[in-house]
Amino acid sequence: MKTVSISDISIAYQEAGGGEVLLLVHGFPLDHTMWSEQVAALSDEFRVIAPDLRGFGQTPLSASDQQDPRSTVTMRQYADDLAGLLDALKINEPINFCGLSMGGYIGWQFAQVYRDRLKRLILCDTKAAADSAEAADNRHKVAEKVLLHGSEFLAEALMIKLISDGTATQFPETVARIRQMILNAPPTSVAAAQRGMAARPDMSDILPQLDLPALVLVGSDDAISPPSEMRGIADVLPQAEFIEIAGAGHMCPMEKPDEVSAALREFLRRPV
Ligand code: MLT
Repeated sequence: MKTVSISDISIAYQEAGGGEVLLLVHGFPLDHTMWSEQVAALSDEFRVIAPDLRGFGQTPLSASDQQDPRSTVTMRQYADDLAGLLDALKINEPINFCGLSMGGYIGWQFAQVYRDRLKRLILCDTKAAADSAEAADNRHKVAEKVLLHGSEFLAEALMIKLISDGTATQFPETVARIRQMILNAPPTSVAAAQRGMAARPDMSDILPQLDLPALVLVGSDDAISPPSEMRGIADVLPQAEFIEIAGAGHMCPMEKPDEVSAALREFLRRPV
């Protein structure tokens, strides 16, 4: 893991390979290791960069946020951090951005604010719509609960939603890796991200303006951002391809790593 200072934090990231940049942005409440298989598979052809977002993995919250359990990290803040990381690495050419779930929410922000820094956009198991009032309210409750009781209950509550039944029964090591990432997530970071997701805007209106090659990829059994919702996103993006990965849930890059890496490679090889 390398680290570089940007604004008020030091951001940790894994980097491997050379060629066009592929930025892999993890979901909530995880870290860059959810992309380990894609880093290993795709770094033969691409410069793969997988950061830990602010508050997760080896990247801390800012000093002031660490002291304030009521803090919020917005999707825009995470997107600004990623632009700061690219600046620090002197990457000026347009990149390929791939985000899963919360990483996708960040992707919409990145596309809106830093459009000229994007070559292609890959959205895995994510949504463009904002939370309903009920969902946002629930996030605030989860934030309070995790601050009181720690991340264990979150692991219990989330695991069944994150993976397919097939993964749950056939791949105990994958289940254990995901659970451990959730347990590792500091409660203050979890709470800050939950508040940020609750406050995220509806990005549906910007989709028709995102005229760049996009790949919309979803696990067939995704219970959080189901294929029907992701197909709707692909239908509205001007240049999108839609791929459904059979037998995978929300965590399809970990559940079906070879299929996901192959789909990314094929998409990234297409001339722009
Ligand atoms: C994620 O995987 O990042 C989460 O499911 C996002 C969310 O809670 O909406």
